[in-house]
Amino acid sequence: MIEAKSITRFFSVVNEKGLAEGLTAVLNVSLTIPDGRIVSLLGPSGCGKSTFLEILAGLQAPTDGTIHIDGKLVLEPLPATRKEQIAYQRRYRFISPLANGVFRDHPKHDIAMIFQDYAVFPWMTAMQNIVFALRLRGAGKRGAARPRRGDLEEKALFFLGKAGLAGFANKYPSQLSGGMRQRLALARALSVEPKIILMDEPFAAVDALTREKLQDDLLRLWSESGADKRLTIVLVTHDVQEAVYLSDEVVVFSPSPGTIRNIVPVDVPRPRARTGERLIEIQERILAMFQYDINQESEYSI
Ligand SMILES: Nc1ncnc2c1ncn2[C@@H]1O[C@H](COP(=O)(O)OP(=O)(O)OP(=O)(O)O)[C@@H](O)[C@H]1O
Ligand SMILES: [Mg+2]
Repeated sequence: MIEAKSITRFFSVVNEKGLAEGLTAVLNVSLTIPDGRIVSLLGPSGCGKSTFLEILAGLQAPTDGTIHIDGKLVLEPLPATRKEQIAYQRRYRFISPLANGVFRDHPKHDIAMIFQDYAVFPWMTAMQNIVFALRLRGAGKRGAARPRRGDLEEKALFFLGKAGLAGFANKYPSQLSGGMRQRLALARALSVEPKIILMDEPFAAVDALTREKLQDDLLRLWSESGADKRLTIVLVTHDVQEAVYLSDEVVVFSPSPGTIRNIVPVDVPRPRARTGERLIEIQERILAMFQYDINQESEYSI
C-alpha cells in the first residue's frame, strides 16, 4: 500500500528579473493507494504530476509530508533550518540520501519507474536495456551471487516476448517504432518484477491507435501479474479517456499550486468497453470539472 500524507514540494526559482522566487509545485497532497490498483494522476501541464510521482519513487524528497510504502518511509523531507540540517547530517553523515551507498545497496521498495522522456537507453539494444536493468537490480542485493549472463538474457527474452517484442531483441531503440519503444520500456520495468510501477505519461508520444493498443497491453500485463500478487500501477496522464479506461481511481489535480481537486472512482468491471455508457459518463464528469476551473479562472482574470 502506498500512503502519501500531506505532501508539499516547494522549489526556489529565479524569475525573469533575476530575483529568487518560491514556487509550490505540489501542495498538501494526501493519497492512499491499496495494493493491486491502477490509479491515474490526471491534470493540466505543470500541475505537479511528475514531481509528485518522483516523490512517490523516492527520487525527490518532499519539502513537507511523508510517503510510506508498505509501512516503510520512502524519503523524509529535507532539512529546512540550520538546526534540522545539523541533526540530519549527524544522522546520515551526508547531505543527499540518494548519493549514499547505504540507500543504493538496500533498495527498500520494489518500484520500477517509466519516465516521461528517454524511457530507454538509445545506445543499448532492446535485450541490453533489460539485462542492464536486471543487473542493476541484482547488484543492489548484498551477498547475492553474480547472475549468469545467459540467465539474464533468457529472462530478458521472456519479458520481451510478453511485450510482443520477441523478434526485436537485437534492435536498437532508434530502429523500433514509438509504440515498440514504449513497450520496451514496459518490458524493462516488468523484468525486475516490481510490486509497483510508476509511469509518467508512457503513451503520450504515440498515435491514437497505437495508444489504445498499448493501453490494452498494459491491462493484459497487469492482469497476468496474478490476483494474489497483482501489480500496483500509478500512471500520470493528460488524457481523460485514457485515465478513465485504465484506472480504478482517477485523481484529478488542479494547477498552481498542484493539489488534489477530486478523486473519482471508476466502478466499472473489466474488461471495459471504451464507449460504455458509464465510462463516458465519468469522462464527462471529469471534463466538466476542468471546464468549471477554466471558467472560474477567466472570471477572476477579467
Ligand atoms: N527542479 C525544479 N526546479 C524548479 N521548478 C520545478 C522543478 N521541477 C518542476 N518544477 C516546477 O514545478 C511545477 C510542476 O512541474 P511538473 O513537472 O511536476 O508538472 P507536470 O504536471 O508533470 O507537467 P507536464 O504535464 O507538463 O509534464 C512546474 O511549474 C515546474 O516548472
Ligand atoms: Mg510531467
